[in-house]
Amino acid sequence: MNSENIIKDKWLETVWEKTEKKMKAQSSRMGSIIPYVPENGRYVDMGERNITWWTNGFWSGILWQMYNATKDEEYRKLAEQQEERLDGALNKFMGTDHDAGFMWLHTAVANWRLTNNEESRLRGLQAATLLSGRYNPSGQFIRAWGGQHVNDERAGWMIIDCMMNLPLLYWASDLTKDPRYKTIAINHAYTTMKHLLREDGSCYHIAAINPDTGELEYYPENQGYSPDSAWSRGQAWAIYGFALSYKYTGDKEFLDAAKKVAHYFIANVAMSGYVALVDFMAPEEPVMYDTTASTCAACGLLELADLVTEHEKRLYSEAAFKILHAVSEKHCNWNEEEDSIVQNGCVAYHRENEIDLPIIYGDYFFVEGILKLKGMSFPIW
Ligand code: GLY
Repeated sequence: MNSENIIKDKWLETVWEKTEKKMKAQSSRMGSIIPYVPENGRYVDMGERNITWWTNGFWSGILWQMYNATKDEEYRKLAEQQEERLDGALNKFMGTDHDAGFMWLHTAVANWRLTNNEESRLRGLQAATLLSGRYNPSGQFIRAWGGQHVNDERAGWMIIDCMMNLPLLYWASDLTKDPRYKTIAINHAYTTMKHLLREDGSCYHIAAINPDTGELEYYPENQGYSPDSAWSRGQAWAIYGFALSYKYTGDKEFLDAAKKVAHYFIANVAMSGYVALVDFMAPEEPVMYDTTASTCAACGLLELADLVTEHEKRLYSEAAFKILHAVSEKHCNWNEEEDSIVQNGCVAYHRENEIDLPIIYGDYFFVEGILKLKGMSFPIW
């Protein structure tokens, strides 16, 4: 082993040891709390505030990853409690949306994959069916947000984030041999390439499509700097999401899309020390980072590295390593008395109260990324 690899391995072992200690301390005091953003160093229960909130599965994802890596039964027990609590969302029509994948891949589907629990299988299928019901056949996309409101102007909105929910549909078709779920996923991925992916490899966040005719109308503003900019978490969802669609379908167009966004992301993240700015096209000042985009992109790049030829692998795995290393060196809180590891995440560029904060999905992707580097991750997606 050369000296560069020895240094990398030592870093990885140290970070994993710290992650294990922190997750053990945190989970021991959290009970069945569903975390989102800590307040004064401790998580408050998002399940109590809003059981349908889209991030409510991520902690369970961490618990299943930790259980799979350590075989510590405590993690499994806590994950099972989280899954039962989410029945409050699965059985509640109001408030659920396109993020059914984020919520039930990390809970029910993970449980089914690891333990063959029958109830979990049914929860996963119910979630996949809920997600499929959002499909718009005229425009061939899964609608984002809402759906329960009167005169909702977002009936034709589709978003880049939704690419990460498609594995729930691929899973449902693989399991049931019913192609409806995966047909919806494939059509949505093609429409995403058509309307959200740009020639230079960057992506729009949202496309507003006429819900009756399926024609593209305009690009609304949301979590990035502007409708035409490049919100970094959106780019991360695209890298990972297209890589996963390729993994499940073998369709090279999805692989090419994943690579295109990956090259755009790597070129941009290299200019800010391998921690992504909130938006790659925002003005130079103020400098705003999003560690959650960084850790998610790192996982997407590692997924991609597993799907390409040997000589292409290095570009993606090196970039992922550099991102996780930079986040661990500059943006992690290892104090075991405080909840959350990855700091300095951002929900949206223009929401003053939701910038520069730890968010549960930043930690999820950090843990997944470290375990991927160790060759010990569990395929949640
Ligand atoms: N899916 C919403 C977000 O990335 O913030």
